[in-house]
Amino acid sequence: MSMSVVTLLYLIASVCFIQALKGLSNPKTARIGNTFGMVGMAIAILTTIALIVKQASALGSDLSLGLGLLFAALVVGGAIGAYVAAKVEMTKMPELVAAMHSLIGLAAVCIAYAVVSEPSAFGLAPLGEPIPVGNRVELFIGTFVGAITFSGSVIAFGKLSGKYQFRLFKGAPVVYRGQHMINLLLALAMLGFGIIFMLTQAWLPFVIMTAIAFALGVLIIIPIGGADMPVVVSMLNSYSGWAAAGIGFSLNNPMLIIAGSLVGSSGAILSYIMCRAMNRSFFNVLLGGFGNEGGAAATGGAQEQRPVKSGSADDAAFMLGNAETVVIVPGYGLAVARAQHALKELTDKLIEKGIDVKYAIHPVAGRMPGHMNVLLAEAEVDYELVHEMEDINGEFQQTDVVLVLGANDVVNPAAKTDPKSVIAGMPILEAYRAKTIIVNKRSMAAGYAGLDNELFYMDKTMMVFGDAKKVIEDMVKAVE
Ligand code: TAP
Repeated sequence: MSMSVVTLLYLIASVCFIQALKGLSNPKTARIGNTFGMVGMAIAILTTIALIVKQASALGSDLSLGLGLLFAALVVGGAIGAYVAAKVEMTKMPELVAAMHSLIGLAAVCIAYAVVSEPSAFGLAPLGEPIPVGNRVELFIGTFVGAITFSGSVIAFGKLSGKYQFRLFKGAPVVYRGQHMINLLLALAMLGFGIIFMLTQAWLPFVIMTAIAFALGVLIIIPIGGADMPVVVSMLNSYSGWAAAGIGFSLNNPMLIIAGSLVGSSGAILSYIMCRAMNRSFFNVLLGGFGNEGGAAATGGAQEQRPVKSGSADDAAFMLGNAETVVIVPGYGLAVARAQHALKELTDKLIEKGIDVKYAIHPVAGRMPGHMNVLLAEAEVDYELVHEMEDINGEFQQTDVVLVLGANDVVNPAAKTDPKSVIAGMPILEAYRAKTIIVNKRSMAAGYAGLDNELFYMDKTMMVFGDAKKVIEDMVKAVE
């Protein structure tokens, strides 16, 4: 295979990756986007194997053992990946992504170590000659970003899964005095050893620099609360892309550079979008102290005792059945209750009755990007009924009934009315403007931001307490 064919195939794979990202930006095209991603990855892997074979035969090396190991790794890795992806629950997706990123970071470190120990095998320098300084810089960047990504992702995985007793894996932030100063000093030390490596190509500073980077990955992530982890996972996703791109420069592999840059930039954009939709700065997330283990309790005991109007699922079904227009606001609680299929049934029944039903999606409803879109897609909800926040906010005023299901912060009017609130300025779904509001949740407990919600106390609001799945199933029976 000539180099121009390799370049062409890499170009085709890169176009597939770009199409994958484009497709994944919309639920309607997500499936085809995913297919593009898989095709692009298959082309990239096969082309790289062909390239290795070509280069090895040019050098007269025996590749039988190497190729055997490579195919064994492909089969074992592919089988584990397929099994895990088929089994994973939607709410466990962020921790799976964190686990995957840790492997990308580790791979970047391993490749960098292979390159430093045998630069001639990678075509970086003739046998016995030093690695050019430019490549040493790339190796330094790829290694430290990869090491931080690995250990940071392992901690993020542990915090998200919540199953492990190990202290660093607890959801609550781990904070201590002088934390940021220690991190800063370690970062400077890492840079110092990195500079010595770049100047001398000596092993010791390279190993010390890597060890500090592994430690930094842990120390940067432990002060961040479990609930903030999705933003962190997206940030680590970005890091893993940059680590891959850095190593791609060292290996002179355009595919790795392009794919790494796509992952790096899309992860950075996603982190920015998530922070903006939560009205928080990126540094505020990184410096920690906001999210906690399971969502905070509503602030102020006095507020919890304020009276609310509550009703049954039957009352809610009666109100829904008599409405002309209904907007449904899904939130984190709907995902926890796994009530999406019951909700689809309820929606179908209301539509059969001639009621105009729409879904309103907040960009950070739930706990991961696109959480509600994925949930509704799982239940095969018609995409035409699903509306983004900017498109639907103007319609609430004319809506007869808004049905808020397991959502809290994303409909909290305090974001607009209370400049001192931690969510002040966060864009919300303006459910409070509707003629009538039905809210389903299990109690008066707060959501992720730990705030009380005025919406629940409004005269036109009826609370229906209970697990979302049970309540919606009861509503379906009552609507019938
Ligand atoms: P939240 O504000 O977290 O509220 C969820 C509500 O669901 C809770 O108040 C809870 O009340 C209720 N709930 C829990 N389990 C339930 C069940 N089985 N049945 C019925 N209700 C249940 O959710 P939201 O409105 O979706 O807002 C998301 C929040 O997460 C935002 O603050 C956002 O900034 C943050 N966040 C989002 C992301 C992304 S990317 N989506 C990432 C990090 C953080 P009860 O306990 O009383 O039932």
